[in-house]
Parts: sequence; C-alpha cells; structure tokens
Amino acid sequence: MALKLRFDNRVAIVTGAGGGLGRAYALELAKRGAKVVVNDLGVSRTGEGASSKAADLLVEEIKSNGGVAIPNYDSVEQGHKIIEAAIKAFGRIDIIINNAGILRDVSVQKMTEKDWDMVIAVHLKGAFILVKAAWKYMREQKYGRIINTSSSSGLYGNFGQANYSTAKLGLHGLTQTLAKEGDKYNIKCNTIAPSAASRMTQDIFTPDLHELLVPEKVVPLVTYLAHENCNENGGLYEVAGGYIGKLRWQRSQGVFYPGTFTAEDVKAKWNEAGNFDGNNDYPSALTDTLQKVMKFIEISKPKL
Ligand code: NAI
Repeated sequence: MALKLRFDNRVAIVTGAGGGLGRAYALELAKRGAKVVVNDLGVSRTGEGASSKAADLLVEEIKSNGGVAIPNYDSVEQGHKIIEAAIKAFGRIDIIINNAGILRDVSVQKMTEKDWDMVIAVHLKGAFILVKAAWKYMREQKYGRIINTSSSSGLYGNFGQANYSTAKLGLHGLTQTLAKEGDKYNIKCNTIAPSAASRMTQDIFTPDLHELLVPEKVVPLVTYLAHENCNENGGLYEVAGGYIGKLRWQRSQGVFYPGTFTAEDVKAKWNEAGNFDGNNDYPSALTDTLQKVMKFIEISKPKL
C-alpha cells in the first residue's frame, strides 16, 4: 500500500533519536521522504557520558534504506546548534520532535538539586531552546509542526519522579502556549504521553508488556501530528500499544459566593465545589474562566 502522507521537501529534527521512540520516529519520517536530523548525545539513562555511535548507526540505516539524514551529537541544552545544523544541511526546518530524555529517579527527600536541574534542563529547557531557535524560521515560512513528549508521570505524578513529572507537565504548558502563539503562522504544537518499551522502561515493564508496547505503536500518531494535513493544535494524547486517547481539562460547575465569605463557607460547600456530576465544562483559556465568573456575578445581582 502506498504511503499517502508524504514528507517530501520537509526537514525534521528528532531529538534523542539514537534509540527507543526517537529512533522509530526518525526511521518512519525518512521512509516517508523527510530529510531527518538524527540528534542524539549518546548518554546513559541518567544523562552521563556521550557518544556519537547511536546517531551515526541510525543515519547509516536511513541512508541504506534510500533516505536522507544527517547525524547531530549536540545536547538539546544547546538546541540552537541543532537548528544551525539543520539549516546548514537542508536550508529549512519544518518539524521538531522533542523526544530526548533522561531519568534521575529518587524520592523527593533524597533528590539533589543536581537531579532536579539535569532533568529539567534536558526535557523542559532543551525543548524551549530548540523551539526558540527554530521559531523565526517557522514564522517566516508560515509552517511548523512541533511535538512535545510528556509522560503519564507528568499528567498524574509518580513516586520518585518529582523532577521528571514537573518537566513533563511543563512540556504540555509549553505546548499550550506555543499552540496559541504559533496558530496564525500555521505552526501547530501538540503533546504526546507515550508508553513504549525502551531502555527507559526496561526495569518497569514486564517482558509481556515489553512485547506489546513497542515504539512502532506510537509512531503513527506522531507521524500524523507531524504532517501538514493535521491541523490539531494544543492537543494532548496518551498513546501506547495501539491505543490513542485525547485528554482535556474538565471543570466542575463549581460554587459562587456573592459578597464576602469565609473559610467556613468554603468548608460548607466543599463537596459541591468538587462535584463533577453536574454541569461540567471544558475550559481551554482564561477567557472561559472569566466568562463563567461574570455569569455567576450577573445571576447573583439583586433584581431591581
Ligand atoms: P531512551 O532512553 O531510549 O531514549 C532517549 C534518548 O535521548 C537516548 O538515546 C539519549 O541518548 C538521548 N538523550 C538524552 N539526553 C540528551 C540530550 N541532552 N541531548 C540529546 N539527546 C539526549 O528513551 P525512550 O523511552 O525512547 O524515551 C523517549 C522520550 O519519551 C523521552 O522524553 C521519555 O521521557 C519519553 N517517555 C517515554 C516513555 C516510555 O514508556 N518509553 C514513557 C513516557 C515518556
């Protein structure tokens, strides 16, 4: 079957593409005609060391499949260098998949500032630096597709991952703002929260899960989000083992206190404030909140 969603003349950067999920994305994009910057610093799971081997091997593989790719070994913390490499080799940048990542898991009581800083620097600041350097090119060409990689740990929290969960939820914050700032330039940004077998999950998933949750089951969603036909913007998707689901904010009907009120009043209506059985809504901007507040104020005004 011919692959209809092509990426001819598109340039994609996949960070952390030396292994795991990033490798699978890079292979697929190249197969569909994209010119790919295969970025990988070649570090250990905890972010130590450096090696060019993983990126080099993948570039060789892409080329032997007839694709176009260059290796890049810069850390995403130096994201501007990755963008420079893309521009120098291919003259443009259309797609960024912010995928590079490390883990430094330890309970908050034992977490050092170094554990915190390293994880935030790679996942969150790295994504920002890369996007910032690419932004002017994407704005000028009025085109861009950015995919940020979150995690269930970011969405729900996870024991031993204060640093990682903060970075991962922060990435969706970045997505939501980039979606708003980029929309008029046809720059679309979305977030995925994947689960897939990789060295990151080798001691978390059972062997059965490792077989079921292969990276290739995440690839189709990322490929579609990276394509010009996809106009989704600001979305958040969980994706694993063939499942794709969208997440959004949900708000309870809530309660309103006209005039002054006290902590005792809050206590009295606590369950009502958090009751999701009633008239829920799905806010996506501050204006949604303010409209709701104004409606309550209007309703509670004394009738003349
Ligand atoms: P992986 O460990 O196989 O791949 C991560 C790659 O990033 C490695 O090749 C590493 O060398 C590279 N890297 C690390 N620091 C870098 C830096 N500063 N600059 C450039 N490259 C760097 O991990 P996996 O599982 O493929 O993860 C990919 C992304 O997906 C990560 O952001 C991870 O947090 C996220 N994720 C993965 C999940 C899973 O189930 N595998 C679950 C949730 C999120």
